[in-house]
Amino acid sequence: MKVDKNLLEKYNVPVPRYTSYPPANHFTDEFTQDEFKNIIIDSNSGKPEHIAVYIHIPFCEKICFYCGCNTCSLGSGSQIKPYIEALLKEIKMVSQHLDKSRKLTQIHFGGGTPNSIPSSYINQIIELIFEEFNVSPDAEIAMECHPAHLDKNYINDLINAGFNRISLGIQDLNLSVLKNVNRDPSAMPVQEIIDLFKSAKHKININLDFIYGLPGQNVESFSKTMNEAIALKPERLVTFSYAHVPWVKKNQLILEKKGLPSPEQKVDMFLTATSILNANGYKSLGLDHFVLEEDELYKAMTNNSLHRNFQGYATREKTGQVYAFGDSSITQLDNAYIQNVKEIDAYIDTVNAGNVPIDKGYKMKSDEIIIREVITQIMCNMKINWDELAIILNTDKSVIKNTVVIDNDILKEFEADKLLSFTENEIIVSDLGSLFIRNIAASLDPAYKNQINKYSKSV
Ligand SMILES: C[S@@+](CC[C@H](N)C(=O)[O-])C[C@H]1O[C@@H](n2cnc3c(N)ncnc32)[C@H](O)[C@@H]1O
Ligand code: SF4
Repeated sequence: MKVDKNLLEKYNVPVPRYTSYPPANHFTDEFTQDEFKNIIIDSNSGKPEHIAVYIHIPFCEKICFYCGCNTCSLGSGSQIKPYIEALLKEIKMVSQHLDKSRKLTQIHFGGGTPNSIPSSYINQIIELIFEEFNVSPDAEIAMECHPAHLDKNYINDLINAGFNRISLGIQDLNLSVLKNVNRDPSAMPVQEIIDLFKSAKHKININLDFIYGLPGQNVESFSKTMNEAIALKPERLVTFSYAHVPWVKKNQLILEKKGLPSPEQKVDMFLTATSILNANGYKSLGLDHFVLEEDELYKAMTNNSLHRNFQGYATREKTGQVYAFGDSSITQLDNAYIQNVKEIDAYIDTVNAGNVPIDKGYKMKSDEIIIREVITQIMCNMKINWDELAIILNTDKSVIKNTVVIDNDILKEFEADKLLSFTENEIIVSDLGSLFIRNIAASLDPAYKNQINKYSKSV
């Protein structure tokens, strides 16, 4: 597939990433401690019924210049112990209000770098989760790992703790690209890391994360990285488009000086990577994921039941309301989002004073719950069928259509640009349109028009 330069210029405008709806920059309300408690109790009767737990470990040994996550430098490591103690207290504060009959189907450790702290702390957290929640036997227990900080002992500890999905943040296999962005390469050959995880008695799935759009990358170098990645046979592979938001993350300005690839080069890298991955049995999924045909996410996509939250894609069966723990983490419920305080010391002090460490949040109005579902559908499944949506939302399709923006002129323009086709009943996004899926989603979002300059560009 070749993408016309004019089309790129036309659609390369700031749009939300839609990892949540509304996007996190809309969060405002401060919940009182009592309101928070009531929201958590109410969530027991919300949908989905299952529970997902997110654990945020903010520490990193070194900060990568491109990083857009909430991280902080590990320094001497003196904050680790008080942080984990606070995190364990926070889990207990929240779990006491949750219905013990609800099944926990996902545990996700993210960061920062969860494997930058001693594995004994990870064990303490896992043990507490198993004590406090009704963990489903087929729950996904996942961790985002930096391969520079994995050794044989640490890998064994993660295996023994029951992890069954490991995402390795490779970013690029080209060492000069990693040097440009202040990132250490894997300590062991990546193949060896994978072999150690695969030697476990239980099945451990491996995801490899990459970023395209960094200084020093080009189509040739990124294609080489993709070919090397395929040889490692991961179950899933993600190619994140580098999100440049220097007004939020000042470190990213360093990358501007080193020379960022142009939008055309970025699209070329993505399309070339896609054709290499597709030719080697990896199916495109959503915005940036590649999975094998037998993957449950691929099956979910083919029957329109793929879902997404801040932690990534999930099947509708496994999706739970997300209860998040740790500084800056975001709890995602049926009718509310609640974000914890970002600053580590403030987080620890608040929990130690016996309070839940909430900072801001958002109470969803009924129309926003509808818009969120429409945007999730188009972002995950690349199509909208208004009748199917009416069943999912248990409402009339005319209510849904009147709640989102359906501007026939805009849809016709997308159609003329070959990004989608549409009828009264459905919108179907083309392969070309999937490159601009954030633009298509934004066109359906009534809140988008006033917020245009707060987001990274679509490509
Ligand atoms: C929390 S990190 C993963 C764990 C570990 N800290 C690491 O770097 O390997 C989450 C992932 O977000 C992605 N990421 C971070 N900053 C990004 C940015 N500005 N644009 C796109 N992806 C980004 C990276 O691929 C990274 O692996
Ligand atoms: S990419 Fe990972 S290791 Fe690098 S700063 Fe971000 S969270 Fe830390």
